[in-house]
Amino acid sequence: MSEYVVSMEHITKTFPGVKALDDVHLHLQAGRVMALLGENGAGKSTLMKILSGVYTRDSGDITIFGKKIEGDLTTRQAQSLGVAIIHQELNMCQHLSVAANMFLGREIIKSGGRLDNAEMNRQAEEQLARLGIHDMDPEESVGNLTVGRQQMVEIARALLINARILIMDEPSSALSNAEITEMFRIVRELRSMGTAIVYISHRLQELHHIVDDVTIMRDGKFITEGRFEDFTMEQIIANMVGHEVTNQFPRETVPRGRKILEVKHLNAGRMVRDVSFDLYAGEVLGFSGLVGAGRTETMRAIFGADPKESGEMILDGKTLDIHNPGSAIRQGIVLAPEDRKKEGLCTKLSIRDNIALPNLDIITLGSRTGRINRAAENAMIEKGKNSLTIKMAGPESEAGSLSGGNQQKVVVAKWLARESRVLIFDEPTRGIDVAAKVEIYEIINNLKKQGVGVIIVSSELPEVMGISDRIIVMCNGRITGTVDPRSTTEEEIMTYATRFGDNAASA
Ligand SMILES: Nc1ncnc2c1ncn2[C@@H]1O[C@H](COP(=O)(O)OP(=O)(O)OP(=O)(O)O)[C@@H](O)[C@H]1O
Ligand SMILES: [Mg+2]
Repeated sequence: MSEYVVSMEHITKTFPGVKALDDVHLHLQAGRVMALLGENGAGKSTLMKILSGVYTRDSGDITIFGKKIEGDLTTRQAQSLGVAIIHQELNMCQHLSVAANMFLGREIIKSGGRLDNAEMNRQAEEQLARLGIHDMDPEESVGNLTVGRQQMVEIARALLINARILIMDEPSSALSNAEITEMFRIVRELRSMGTAIVYISHRLQELHHIVDDVTIMRDGKFITEGRFEDFTMEQIIANMVGHEVTNQFPRETVPRGRKILEVKHLNAGRMVRDVSFDLYAGEVLGFSGLVGAGRTETMRAIFGADPKESGEMILDGKTLDIHNPGSAIRQGIVLAPEDRKKEGLCTKLSIRDNIALPNLDIITLGSRTGRINRAAENAMIEKGKNSLTIKMAGPESEAGSLSGGNQQKVVVAKWLARESRVLIFDEPTRGIDVAAKVEIYEIINNLKKQGVGVIIVSSELPEVMGISDRIIVMCNGRITGTVDPRSTTEEEIMTYATRFGDNAASA
């Protein structure tokens, strides 16, 4: 009898045009947290979808609690063996209640055939309480909850099926700091109950809080496994990437040019109050603050995605008139949004169409009938692909079939195709691996050299401090401070970010 609750040996999986997994191993122990690490497209999610029965393997052996799986492992079988997965992109029915989501597919039915809502609400509350969550109404619509709270519901749902093996695919990528702390508390709780946990994350600096073991993959292959404490961070990165990464934040300084954008007394809803700032050519302006500070709302208002109440914007000396994203794009301002699935991509369209769509004005140029110039389009796709090394079967693949991080690269790539004056990136490296982050920073450096103004909204302090030339800190919809990243400290930024204390826990 092995000491492992799960062992996966020699797993292979091929998708049309891609060998996603090639002879991969994974071993999990009860009451331990295993970090599954690898670059974007390494095959982490695919391996975990196989363990949870979402995909079937081409070959290889899976043993769960000593039971060797003969033939395909189905989702139902995986569930009954105690495997639960929280997917990279949250999968919840937004309009259904907390309890209804937790009991989806396992509803409790009264003898008359009607749903026993009272009993499901009661049990939902009980499970949430086991996780130490006492302030969530089981009848609340999931759509009204923050992403962090939705994740708690997913974890509670896993408890409900008595999960002994819990897979968390990038759970922290969209959470506020307070929510991450809360999630770690719950993970430790589950670990102490004996659950085996797989934890996938590109936020390497957070791993030491909860991780016991690591498995590292690269390009669909198993590279190494072992105890987390036996690796240095440099070794982990080198194993993931295949070479050493010497400079995680390659900030290049270019002389600051003239003022490109002036934002004066911008007001939009509760979260954008009297925001004023300037942006210069060749400058990277970072926006820091806690989740919910109003940074995204500010950028959306500038981009015309949300209505403005008042305020003025001046680009290259000309007053702007922006009422919708289309007019912002035409006037030279683009925004890569934080929620790639909802706002950044059409997942059912090809990569080609995703890059081409916002740039139709360029690739139909010279044609009165609006016909697409294929050569111009191909050149644009090629440029995006090469500048970001997007891992894909080909540009005709569905954007939704890309790994999470590669989807993010497509969102960035489509804006590189046009010559904009101001590029706004909202959490540009969320879910992106350490090497690809450096690629994105290099692209930002290039934009700087071309005299473009770049705005970066980022919740990761090391990132915003590592690549910005100047940092604006927001709290509760207002600018509370401006700091120089070369001389500031994390503490100073956090002081500005919590200037109005009540902002700390809200998301
Ligand atoms: N349903 C699918 N159809 C076609 N190709 C797929 C599908 N799912 C995954 N792939 C491909 O398999 C490879 C591995 O993808 P996977 O999602 O497992 O990567 P990952 O390690 O989870 O990356 P990330 O960190 O970006 O989430 C990628 O090349 C991806 O494009
Ligand atoms: Mg993934």
